Amino acid sequence: MQNFVFGSPFTSQKLPLKNAAGFIGSEQLPDCLKGCEVVVIPAGVPRKPGMTRDDLFNTNATIVANLTSACAKHCPEAMICIIANPVNSTIPITSELFKKHGVYNPNRIFGVTTLDIVRANTFVAELKGLDPARVNVPVIGGHAGKTIIPLISQCTPKVEFPQDQLETLTGRIQEAGTEVVKAKAGAGSATLSMAYAGARFVFSVLDAMNGKEGVIECSFVRKNGIEKNLGIGKISPYEEKMIAEAMTELKASIKKGEEFVKSMK
Ligand code: LMR
Repeated sequence: MQNFVFGSPFTSQKLPLKNAAGFIGSEQLPDCLKGCEVVVIPAGVPRKPGMTRDDLFNTNATIVANLTSACAKHCPEAMICIIANPVNSTIPITSELFKKHGVYNPNRIFGVTTLDIVRANTFVAELKGLDPARVNVPVIGGHAGKTIIPLISQCTPKVEFPQDQLETLTGRIQEAGTEVVKAKAGAGSATLSMAYAGARFVFSVLDAMNGKEGVIECSFVRKNGIEKNLGIGKISPYEEKMIAEAMTELKASIKKGEEFVKSMK
């Protein structure tokens, strides 16, 4: 948690818009990336029922490494938004590769965890009869099981649940991706909701880059976000316990990503 903290209001910066263009294949990757200011990487294979996100490591690590190496070479200044799982390891992979290329800036590499926030907002709203668009639950940590830590004590508007209901709700948020994978029965994982969450995150990044003040999104990042690290604020003893429990898995996933890059030729 020391290395990876969450929550970043973005700073203002005016950037010119570019025309849209299509590219295909690894040979066109350099041209595709040159001049990019924001890169979103949803690439990789999805889970099948019974798999953890970490089970995707062997396949997706190489895919993400190839793409982010190309980003480090061709658009080192871009905001890199990684959706590809396991996010808890693909962010360290990206960070290590940017370091290898001597262009690392922790303020520009983001693990997109917005779907956890969207889910937390939706489930809280359902239980309390609220409009999900007006509920905001910060979710910190990573993007896998127990490393997903919803801070329901910081929800706006303020909500309260008896401990047993709080634990059930927390568990549902943590396992919501797995719920979708099971329901799709081998046909992949969340698609539309992930597209919605990814779009929300990227629109926030663009808003902030275009000068909008006070844009705040939770994300899996190393150290500070772009402008200021909001820290994790005042949390409940239950949330403190969840953070402590998440640390071992989170550290192992981070190390796995870092070791992967060390082992690359
Ligand atoms: C999700 O949370 O839906 C995604 O990370 C996909 C998955 O495998 O759960």
